[in-house]
Amino acid sequence: MTRYAHITGWGMAVPEAILTNADLEKMVETSDEWITSRTGIRERRIAAKNESTATLAAKAGLRALESTGLLARELDLVIVASASPEHLFPATACLVQDALGATRAGAFDLSAACSGFIYAVQMAAQSIRTGAIDSALVIGAETLSRLVNWEDRETCVLFGDGAGAFVLEARETPGGVLSGVLRSDGSGGSLLTVPAGGSRMPASADTLERNLHTIHMNGREVFRFATRVMATATREVVAGAGLKMDDIELVVPHQANLRIIEAAARGLHLPMERFMVNIERYGNTSSASIPMAVCEAVEQGRVRPGDHLVLVGFGAGLTWGALALQWVETRRPPGVQRSRLTLWTFLAHLRSFALRVWRRLEGLFWGTSSEG
Ligand code: ACO
Repeated sequence: MTRYAHITGWGMAVPEAILTNADLEKMVETSDEWITSRTGIRERRIAAKNESTATLAAKAGLRALESTGLLARELDLVIVASASPEHLFPATACLVQDALGATRAGAFDLSAACSGFIYAVQMAAQSIRTGAIDSALVIGAETLSRLVNWEDRETCVLFGDGAGAFVLEARETPGGVLSGVLRSDGSGGSLLTVPAGGSRMPASADTLERNLHTIHMNGREVFRFATRVMATATREVVAGAGLKMDDIELVVPHQANLRIIEAAARGLHLPMERFMVNIERYGNTSSASIPMAVCEAVEQGRVRPGDHLVLVGFGAGLTWGALALQWVETRRPPGVQRSRLTLWTFLAHLRSFALRVWRRLEGLFWGTSSEG
């Protein structure tokens, strides 16, 4: 029996605070006119102090689960793709696994910058198709506002915070993830990087002073690379699925720059109406941008059952990739499922809290705290 990896749930979460181009005009030497005409961005969301990559990821993950009827404890795998993870370790995915109570699931982070979500969905889909797992929660989540140098006008106007998630499940009905293309070119690593804070250049007073914990980017070169790979990856993945460009109802590209998306549309000889664009409201949310755009496309009625979609992205690494999907409506009705899930999430929080208290007490009485 052939197994297919279907997207059965989707959800997104963004912080409430909005930073507009007018706000940025007061922070660095820039203008609304420059930002809008060069990038298409009008505003972006910025995480509050009590928010982080893990909290946004958990929120998006919960919303995606809510629509499936699948309980967190039934999940086999949690993958979080992020360029701004909670820590070097533990993995953000483990924090999300705990927050949701996905007690049977393996969890790991995937580092492929803005292409991370494409990579993660492809990994989860392959595992489902081989029969290794039956379900996975795949999340792209970022708080890039924490990695931006707010005095560097060339980068601080571009990025925003947010998270988007898919639930993938095994089904016998044809459809779901049809094909994938994953590529990289590490020779371009220095074009887009956070140089310090890893093992190569550990945090020090000097690295702080020189702002090496923030995003450093050669915008022009990244722009050139992006316009080159978006169209080729799209063509490759469409051919890999045995389809033609005419079969594709919607392309959901990484939202980095409207001009990059327009160049891809020209390269593919497709009208802009066939591209999902929401960059004006969120800026570049890296690994979160594609699932967030899919969620909004579905909400706007731009994705119908049976439609063929291409998701395509590029990012630091350098990395790029694409997925061809057939959208098949396999959602179960919410309602009852939602209350089961809310109860389960509450119990998971309770269990996690009790475990933490227990570890503290262990440490107090026997000096063997296992937290660390
Ligand atoms: N406001 C006003 N002027 C600015 C700003 C700003 N915010 N930023 C740069 N400028 C100036 C530059 O200093 C330059 O001035 P100069 O001509 O006097 O030297 C001028 O504007 C033009 O600069 P360019 O770099 O040529 O501008 P460009 O049209 O290429 O746009 C941009 C710059 C928006 C960064 C573009 O190159 C781009 O989008 N590149 C891709 C970036 C990207 O996608 N990065 C994310 C990858 S995904 C990931 O993995 C995180």
